[in-house]
Amino acid sequence: MSFLFNINGKLCRQNQAKISVLDRGFLYGDSVYEVVRTYEGRIFALTEHLKRLEHSASRLNIELPNIDWLKRQLLRTVSMAKNADSYCRLIVTRGSGPITLDPTLASKPQLVIIVKKYERFPDWMYQKGIKAFIPSIRRNSRASLDPAIKSGNYLNSVLALGEARKAGFHDALLLDAQGRVTEATSSNVFVFKDGILKTPTLETGILQGVTRSLVLQLVKTYLIPHQEGDIYSDDLVAADEVLVTSTLKEVMPVVQVGDHQIGDGRPGPLGKKLRDLVHEYALAQVRESNQRKPKERKPNRLKKDEGNCQ
Ligand code: PDD
Repeated sequence: MSFLFNINGKLCRQNQAKISVLDRGFLYGDSVYEVVRTYEGRIFALTEHLKRLEHSASRLNIELPNIDWLKRQLLRTVSMAKNADSYCRLIVTRGSGPITLDPTLASKPQLVIIVKKYERFPDWMYQKGIKAFIPSIRRNSRASLDPAIKSGNYLNSVLALGEARKAGFHDALLLDAQGRVTEATSSNVFVFKDGILKTPTLETGILQGVTRSLVLQLVKTYLIPHQEGDIYSDDLVAADEVLVTSTLKEVMPVVQVGDHQIGDGRPGPLGKKLRDLVHEYALAQVRESNQRKPKERKPNRLKKDEGNCQ
């Protein structure tokens, strides 16, 4: 089964997976979320993602359900979905209430888990690299809606990606108001130049990517010179390699930024090496973890009280 849903602890299929139209997640994007994926059926870096969910929720004063319960719900949903590998989206909204901005009037938070088959990005994206565009829209500042909060309001990224797609590019790399490179629409960014790998600091106003942190840890281990610092669009176009990182993409090469070709226009060796390292690390971690491996695929039966979330 590809899609499986969990609404407040109850498993159900798509036609039963419903929450109120008065939910503030729907009305205002007043929610937090995380995206995790499995390797060999087991979730990678769950602790790090749950920690970030807690951080996002505390910044927005959204009360999370008990974190152990939440984790159990996620594992149960993944296990029941019986996908070879799953994409999992964990959403907690502030709940519903009268139609007013006042967050104190919201009722109880709602948990929505969406699990579907993990679909790999096409091989050509890694073999040939993608083209990125610098959109006119700037990344939200830390003083407004801090990009470190993974909230349900992704309009900044949605508008940036819309601009990029319209111009014929695969993704957008957003600058901040000072012209510094921040991140892509749903990934972090790295540039490699003259043997040094560089990525924007957290102070720039970016999401603290789990994959970004892992890449920084790996380059430290493998003694690859690296630094966190300010990057400008000139640095992007002068780079030997530009890479984007995320849970879903791992490490993906960018071979064109706007009209400028990066390096010789083909993915470079560091990007490939880092992707292999990230992939191998994730596999080693899940194999060591004590998460149960999903059983062989059998027709999936939900219990009597499941399959109907209402
Ligand atoms: N996106 N920056 C932004 C704006 C993101 O949305 C994401 C993740 C990242 C990378 O974070 P991580 O390495 O922890 O996945 C950076 C996820 C995949 C998403 O929203 O689908």
